[in-house]
Amino acid sequence: LRVAILLSGSGSNMAALADSMTGLHPARPCLVLSNVPGAGGLERAAERDIPTATVDHRPFKGDRAAFEAALQDRLVEAAPDLVCLAGFIRILTAPFIASWEGRMLNIHPSLLPKYRGLDTHARALAAGDIEAGCTVHEVTAELDDGPILGQARVPIRPGDTPDSLAARVLKAEHELYPSVLRRVAEGERSPLLLG
Ligand code: GRF
Repeated sequence: LRVAILLSGSGSNMAALADSMTGLHPARPCLVLSNVPGAGGLERAAERDIPTATVDHRPFKGDRAAFEAALQDRLVEAAPDLVCLAGFIRILTAPFIASWEGRMLNIHPSLLPKYRGLDTHARALAAGDIEAGCTVHEVTAELDDGPILGQARVPIRPGDTPDSLAARVLKAEHELYPSVLRRVAEGERSPLLLG
């Protein structure tokens, strides 16, 4: 199976996914694509000899459809069986997602359905939650709302800040996402619950 990974940042999730696809694992990374030129994840992919691409969203200004057409062209060229969003910050339109329905995964740093959208850690702390976590789900047109494929829970500790909680959740992401990818690559879509 061919897996394309889309990112916008440092690519720690991409690295965890790529490093898990070895040996008997039925999947291999075929492309790492960023919307941000020079994103740290591009260097991490190059270190792993994974083909990389950049489709900068800025030249397209507000023309989301044109940006997605360029994105689609580059993705189709890599012919992935699965697309993993890993810290990819662009919102994708329903028609684009429809063309990848059932084959696009995302990791979100909260225990969905709580805290869809941004600033999840600050919101969990502000709410006085005693636990947080991350969710891998199928991407659908509704933001952060597709079928849940896996979740990992982490404790919130006294004195936690958004940064300290983010670091704890990120470690859980690096375990959850590769575990879910392996299950999906083996045809298993029932939710995996960790922690
Ligand atoms: C992190 O905030 C993570 O919680 C979320 O995407 C961001 C980027 O992580 N999933 P990285 O680029 O995978 O390091």
